[in-house]
Amino acid sequence: MSTINSDKLDSRDDAIEHGKCMVSRREFLVYSGVATATTMVAVSLFPGIASAREINARVTGYPRKKIATMSQLKDNKTFDFNYPDNGPNSQAMLIKAGIECGGGVGKQKDIVAFSYMCTHQGGPLMGSYKVTGEHRTVGQCPLHLSTFDIRRHGIIVSGQAYESLPQVLLEVDGDDIYAVGVMGLLFGRTDNLMLG
Ligand code: FES
Repeated sequence: MSTINSDKLDSRDDAIEHGKCMVSRREFLVYSGVATATTMVAVSLFPGIASAREINARVTGYPRKKIATMSQLKDNKTFDFNYPDNGPNSQAMLIKAGIECGGGVGKQKDIVAFSYMCTHQGGPLMGSYKVTGEHRTVGQCPLHLSTFDIRRHGIIVSGQAYESLPQVLLEVDGDDIYAVGVMGLLFGRTDNLMLG
């Protein structure tokens, strides 16, 4: 039985304290199906004089799906759902971790959601959520023991996987919690939205 690499976890505590994002540039580029991006565009008002202004570009694709209500959640009890569809490898978990998590929503920023499918070879991670002090992990994967840190966008703590666990992006509207996108490629898919 392998153990969680506490050195990795501790070094990332510093990063989260200083507000650094633990997600790679590639991860941010791949996914946000429903997002608003701001870009600077050069606008020429007069010949030879260029100025820049911000415009908002909305990228659509992911469904906005109600998956639970705030009042249903209990600290550290997983809530299962499927997203972005009911197709293969769409199984996911919602968790109120009771401690701030990267990408977390709610008053404490402690509500996050992740795919249940290990990014290595698709091992099922159901029932593997663990609380260890201030750490919140999913794993060990039953196939090759990968473990993922859900406080830090699903990064790998140990094991054979080399991609973070895909994080389902959430929004809260009153008491309702919606899934609105996925950060990361779901195991076994070439496109998270392949089922249309
Ligand atoms: S499938 Fe999960 S570690 Fe290999």
